[in-house]
Amino acid sequence: MEQREAINLDRNLALDLARVTEAAALAASRWMGRGRKNEADGAAVEAMRRAFDTVAIDGTVVIGEGEMDEAPMLYIGEKVGHGGPAMDIAVDPLEGTSIVAKGAPNALAVVALAEAGNFLHAPDIYMDKIAIGGGLPDGVVDLDAAVGENLKNLALAKSRAVSDLVVCILDRDRHAEIIAKCREAGARIMLIGDGDVAGVIATAQPESGVDMYLGSGGAPEGVLAAAALRCIGGQMQGRLMFENEAQVARARSMGVAEPNHKYTTFEMAKGDVVFAATGVTSGAILRGVRWFGTGAVTHSVVMRSKSGTVRYIEAHHNFATKTWAQV
Ligand code: FBP
Repeated sequence: MEQREAINLDRNLALDLARVTEAAALAASRWMGRGRKNEADGAAVEAMRRAFDTVAIDGTVVIGEGEMDEAPMLYIGEKVGHGGPAMDIAVDPLEGTSIVAKGAPNALAVVALAEAGNFLHAPDIYMDKIAIGGGLPDGVVDLDAAVGENLKNLALAKSRAVSDLVVCILDRDRHAEIIAKCREAGARIMLIGDGDVAGVIATAQPESGVDMYLGSGGAPEGVLAAAALRCIGGQMQGRLMFENEAQVARARSMGVAEPNHKYTTFEMAKGDVVFAATGVTSGAILRGVRWFGTGAVTHSVVMRSKSGTVRYIEAHHNFATKTWAQV
């Protein structure tokens, strides 16, 4: 009986999380293309924070908007939910602030949840990342292997030529070397302007055409992406990239015992994990928010590692009797 209650709770929480990401996506989408990324982010944060009030958990934000003194809401350590099981919460109310400001593709509102103590408490620094989709032998690629070697091994495992493979990389000067190495090896590349959570998830979705994600991006985004891969299948490795001793000290204070450790997907997101995302602008994974006279349509994905279920939800929000901000 107790076990059945726990499972039901978990299932219900998955749908509650979709409501939380829907709220953030709806709010952020009002700022699409208006060139004001901070306002878009602020709207998403506020809406997500408010939506958490309806969720029956005793949640603690472990991946959030920064420190208590730098973020008014959803800061690391903030308690969310109105009571229930103790849960770790990882949030990115607007993954791709610049994307929304420009009206470009692939911005998401993202939340992941696990039992307390199961997410890597990653500081807001860079993480070096490599990710591939599911159904492949363990260790077929490795963060410490040469780019050409990883591509050759992945091509072999997928029974393809290296020239068939597509590598998704953030379009940054710091990635010039890995871009050159991918090209030298003969692989094709999809450069993205922002949004590496979507980039990593794309490796696990055959229809995206992306075979590998490579390069450095935010460490908090790395943990969220690992949570998604735990549910949808796939392999990821990440290593924190420190720029100074203060960052090392900060990571240690957050519980990182070995700063140079190469984290696996499981080490970043342990135990039973639930992941939810709603599209803010359309992209490889989800359609963005579409507004019409009296409401809006959102497109979300909710995944659970326990069952492996990946559920897409199209929600039609009717705001005929209230404004969207009151929802
Ligand atoms: P924001 O939503 O915080 O703007 O992050 C967007 C993003 O592209 C992430 O997806 C990625 O991890 C990170 O920024 C990369 O950082 P940088 O822009 O410094 O290369």
